[in-house]
Amino acid sequence: MSQHQIELLVKSRTPLIVIETDEENQALSMITGMRAVLQRPIFKWSLTEGFERLDQPMAAQKLFSKPTDALGHIKSVRVSGVYVLADFHPFIDDPLHVRLLKDIALNFERLGHTLILISHAFEIPVELRKLSAKLEMSLPNKIELEQIVREEARQWTQQSGQRVQTDNQTLGLLVSNLTGLSHMDARRLARNAIYDDGAITHSDIPSVTQAKYELLSDDGNLNFEYDTAKFSDVAGFARLKTWLSERKAFFTGDAQVAHMPAPKGVLLLGVQGCGKSLAAKAVAGVWQAPLLRLDFGSLYNKYYGETEKNIRHALKTAEVMSPCVLWLDEIEKGIVSGGDDSGPAKRVLATLLTWMAEKKAPVFLVATANDITALPPELVRKGRFDEIFFVDLPTAEVRFSIFDIHLKRQKQSPELFDFARLVEISEGFSGAEIEQSVISAYYSAHAQGVPFSQELLMNELRKTRPLSIVMSEQIASLRHWAKDRTVPCD
Ligand SMILES: Nc1ncnc2c1ncn2[C@@H]1O[C@H](COP(=O)(O)OP(=O)(O)OP(=O)(O)O)[C@@H](O)[C@H]1O
Ligand SMILES: [Mg+2]
Repeated sequence: MSQHQIELLVKSRTPLIVIETDEENQALSMITGMRAVLQRPIFKWSLTEGFERLDQPMAAQKLFSKPTDALGHIKSVRVSGVYVLADFHPFIDDPLHVRLLKDIALNFERLGHTLILISHAFEIPVELRKLSAKLEMSLPNKIELEQIVREEARQWTQQSGQRVQTDNQTLGLLVSNLTGLSHMDARRLARNAIYDDGAITHSDIPSVTQAKYELLSDDGNLNFEYDTAKFSDVAGFARLKTWLSERKAFFTGDAQVAHMPAPKGVLLLGVQGCGKSLAAKAVAGVWQAPLLRLDFGSLYNKYYGETEKNIRHALKTAEVMSPCVLWLDEIEKGIVSGGDDSGPAKRVLATLLTWMAEKKAPVFLVATANDITALPPELVRKGRFDEIFFVDLPTAEVRFSIFDIHLKRQKQSPELFDFARLVEISEGFSGAEIEQSVISAYYSAHAQGVPFSQELLMNELRKTRPLSIVMSEQIASLRHWAKDRTVPCD
């Protein structure tokens, strides 16, 4: 809704205008801003203050603070006016109030009163529908958001005598991260970003996205993942890393190439415990975007029909949070629930596919899966994802760096270990199994009161029966399936 829309309604002689918004002040300032056009006195009524004049300074009159009296008063006034009723919604259940509103509205030609009702939510009674119009206040657009940030910066300058340090690119980033918030919330977050250090920098962005997520998410189907990962936490995945690095600028919008579509998403498919979830986190870390994980478990609630609403809401929130990475972990578990064609899981899949095909916002999808038998063919069809990466058991070279990463994480000096032996004995191990062996060796060193050693680690590795042996058949069929359909992630 804009000031222009309210103006049009008033000019078209609509007697009753309902504005649904959480931002009463914003709506009031729009209405007050129209005083030159309206050329009529503008009054505001509220239960606490009674009548106040908005178009010129005048103290509030506590007279007529009762809703019935207020409407009776308006009905009796002979000078045409605009009456803004704040929070009238609880009183609309009273038939007397409906009638009084109707009297005023029906007498528009004679009295010339325009009534504007502002509430967070307002159900217009059927009797009044034909006489009224409803507006929803829209969220601020990029230009308005930039204005808000600039106003806050100006205020800081007035208070501190210093200019706010920033550059156009960071300012643009802040503005794009405020998209989807109300005027008031955007202003508050902009102020927080400026007032901590008098500058708008890259380091302000994560706290802005976090605060924004907290404002938006009211249902818990979408989790904000505070822990992301760096490329250096992930051994291997060389091809995926290159792929991501090449596309980073197109995702963040730094590369302004109109004909190049922003990257859509990838599916990471492969053997359990080989770092798919870890790599998904690294996408967000490396692209410096908020990571949102869709929780399939909580999506399916017991109310029939709610599931689709839930996924729509979650996808909408992701769009508002964009640019962001949307992580669908173990996607096959979320979208397949047997053969029932009309089941909620099928509808979730359909909603997801439509959204993937139509989405415009920079939401990059990272899905992971390890069971191809449960993956619906529609999802892996060419063109859905930009690429399907196959994550296989780590090669000797990758195992080398997995040991390196996890030994360092346990504060061990890698030079004290014989990597050639470790790599050799861990043939067929997943990254998760290697990590587990390192952790177990650490515990047993602690229990025995001896230093962590190659020997202890070798013992743990020898004790482990890797999944690649236990599940060799499944892995073979996974590889077979992946051969022509995917690209290796290394
Ligand atoms: N390539 C790797 N580099 C470093 N650590 C790894 C690697 N692969 C696995 N790990 C370790 O193993 C843990 C488990 O891996 P992760 O959960 O990412 O596997 P996954 O492929 O998602 O498995 P699943 O299919 O069971 O979900 C990681 O948190 C990490 O500590
Ligand atoms: Mg996983």
